[in-house]
Amino acid sequence: MDGNGRWAGRRGLPRTLGHRQGIEAVRRTVRHAGARGIAVLTLFAFSRENWNRPQAEVNELMSLLRRYISADLDELDENNVRITVIGGRADLSEELTRLIDDAEARTRQNDGRDLVLAFNYGGRDEIVRAVQRAAAAAARGEIAPDELDEETFSRYLDTAALPDPDLVIRTSGELRISNFLLWQSAYAEYAFPKTLWPDFSEAMFDEALADYATRQRRFGAVPVSLAKP
Ligand code: IPE
Ligand code: MG
Repeated sequence: MDGNGRWAGRRGLPRTLGHRQGIEAVRRTVRHAGARGIAVLTLFAFSRENWNRPQAEVNELMSLLRRYISADLDELDENNVRITVIGGRADLSEELTRLIDDAEARTRQNDGRDLVLAFNYGGRDEIVRAVQRAAAAAARGEIAPDELDEETFSRYLDTAALPDPDLVIRTSGELRISNFLLWQSAYAEYAFPKTLWPDFSEAMFDEALADYATRQRRFGAVPVSLAKP
């Protein structure tokens, strides 16, 4: 979700108002993903690098997550959505941590679809934390180092129970991954609409999905039509 600051800047508004408007795009997108039958939607809400922003903006992003969960949890739960937050928990306030834990616990049994919020998330950080968990398991004798393959390793990631993303959409026209789902996106398709996040609409989401549907995914193999037995 990129472009909140520029959206506000173009209107002569403070960046924080861009983030508030961005929440409306979050609500639209989450509902629309449900309407389109998307099983897992992951939103990159706050990166580990975002701590470097001015304190007031960081505070606003923290409080937006708090307000979003508080305001929308009932609706999400009623719609059978399971909430998972990925990213480091150690740096978050006690209050926010409790809110996240509660939202996850309350929706754990929901099996309609997944909403994953990447918050205080960084792909490299996630991989390092997974390595720490795997190394600790090896030190306890629970796993032998050579038993660790791609499948086993991915179970130590924050996304352990989730499938890899098929499509990654980054708004605002930046052509960067910026540390998002590095391991999981190895074979993802990408879309880079120029729209700033607060303006991202259902129609633009549909456009990205329609374009995705035309892609031929090979996962390093040859097209099915050329594959000989
Ligand atoms: C939103 O857009 C990203 C979040 C941290 C939620 P930005 O705040 O990065 O907006 P730009 O890139 O300055 O326009
Ligand atoms: Mg940005």
